[in-house]
Amino acid sequence: MVTIRKYSKQHDEANVMQLIANEDGWDYANSDMAKQYKAALEQSVTYVAYYDNQICGYSRSLNDCGFYIYVCDLLVSPTYRGHSIGKQLMECIYAHYPNHVVYVMSGVDGYYEKVGYSKEGSIYLVPNPSV
Ligand SMILES: CC(C)(COP(=O)(O)OP(=O)(O)OC[C@H]1O[C@@H](n2cnc3c(N)ncnc32)[C@H](O)[C@@H]1OP(=O)(O)O)[C@@H](O)C(=O)NCCC(=O)NCCS
Repeated sequence: MVTIRKYSKQHDEANVMQLIANEDGWDYANSDMAKQYKAALEQSVTYVAYYDNQICGYSRSLNDCGFYIYVCDLLVSPTYRGHSIGKQLMECIYAHYPNHVVYVMSGVDGYYEKVGYSKEGSIYLVPNPSV
């Protein structure tokens, strides 16, 4: 049985950081970023998914002053993929923020299309004039 609940630093920080450390290509647990990312987990709209006592996924989102929620990070442990945990982590945001519009910053369009999300606009990188 999967339980999804709000993130708590005390109970979840070490588990989420371990999940990230185990995922190829996710750098937030590296020594140069870990401290900043732990603070981000706490300050963001963050949910964790557990199967029994085992962490199986999390999401981290930004609340744009009550207008929109932007999902920045979504990760499900490889062991637990394909059981709709990713979908449930996204849906639980509406349970807590029913009057917001939720957008996800996609790194995997194929997945979001598969779960039936519609594409609205796109994201552009603003070049830094001082670089
Ligand atoms: C993307 C991710 C969160 C999906 O989690 P999940 O709990 O397995 O997702 P769900 O169970 O809701 O959906 C699984 C379905 O999506 C499909 N899927 C997963 N990743 C996909 C991708 N990149 N492209 C297309 N389809 C994908 C699976 O094949 C599966 O299809 P099936 O039901 O026909 O077998 C998970 O694969 C993951 O953590 N990936 C690595 C991190 C990542 O890419 N995060 C998103 C960054 S924005």
